[in-house]
Amino acid sequence: MTVTDSSNRVFSGIQPTGDLHLGNYLGALINWVRMQETHECIFCIVDMHAITMTHDPRALAKATRELTAGLIASGIDTDKAVLFHQSAVPMHAQLAWILNCVARVGWLDRMTQFKDKSGKDKEGASVGLYAYPVLQAADILGYKATHVPVGEDQKQHLELARDIAERFNRTFGEELFPLPEPMIQGAATRVMSLRDGTAKMSKSDASEMSRINLADDADTITRKIKKAKTDADALPSEPAGLAGRPEAANLVNIYAALSGSDAPTVLRDFGGQGFGVFKPALADLAVEKLAPIAARFRELKGDRTMLDGILHQGAERANAIAEPILKDAKRAVGFLKA
Ligand code: TYM
Repeated sequence: MTVTDSSNRVFSGIQPTGDLHLGNYLGALINWVRMQETHECIFCIVDMHAITMTHDPRALAKATRELTAGLIASGIDTDKAVLFHQSAVPMHAQLAWILNCVARVGWLDRMTQFKDKSGKDKEGASVGLYAYPVLQAADILGYKATHVPVGEDQKQHLELARDIAERFNRTFGEELFPLPEPMIQGAATRVMSLRDGTAKMSKSDASEMSRINLADDADTITRKIKKAKTDADALPSEPAGLAGRPEAANLVNIYAALSGSDAPTVLRDFGGQGFGVFKPALADLAVEKLAPIAARFRELKGDRTMLDGILHQGAERANAIAEPILKDAKRAVGFLKA
């Protein structure tokens, strides 16, 4: 697909909870930045998803602005892509309701994220947390997006969005929604914790040492990589040798993604070397790639007027795309015109 092909549209979202980290960057943002050069892209700060768990309202407003700064610092260019916050565009809530009536309880019961996030207290979880993937489907379908760049953890939600689109089209007898394709790309589609190679790097991990934040300075990045959990063996010369070594595999994948190569190439260069050599090389590469993002983030994050202006303009552009699609969905289900 090319820029001239207007039947393709990219949409993706990110929650304004906690700091942007290396998992977000390598799993999603790096692809967003690349795709904005060649595709019509819409990127959304999903503040409505962020209230599905208990939250502090003042912290949410601050986090929404900071994430805007972080996305711009990471390379999102609002002359090329639409960037806005979800709650500013009414379509999301309205289409989500319609899609709630299309999705089946049995489908949502299978969502692993709800099980993970509600933990032992399923009865005490919000209804919003349960319906979260339907809102995510509305985000995507409400722009007739065809491609959705995400990390691996979003695969199940994307499959659900396709099922909802397919059932809507079939039930109401028109091909209103294209079936969105997940784009899970790059050498690090699932970045793991630096403390435990079997757990996903995540904003909610209590240990700061488990993740590299995009706002970390050079010393912090270096310290976190030096302290990252590893094993005592040298690196193998081929990826097969990483089987059963999740921490080593994670660091190799991070190196590959940051250098724009792949695991076989990294292991061709570092096979036979121990972590005493590999970790400093990885730290240097991470600092080279990430420190400029942190510096830019620090410059931007205090400029409230500029950040609010960007979001306001982004919401107007997003709304102009979403409004006619929402109208069609309302007509298809039989609502009278307002
Ligand atoms: P969120 O905010 O948890 O994460 C944003 C993006 O970062 C990716 N990601 C990772 N990738 C690799 N390794 C990791 N450790 C890692 N952690 C996070 C996620 O896969 C995601 O691409 N439900 C979504 C937000 C959302 C959305 C949407 C996404 C709402 N509506 C519509 C796509 C389309 C979420 O919570 O992402």
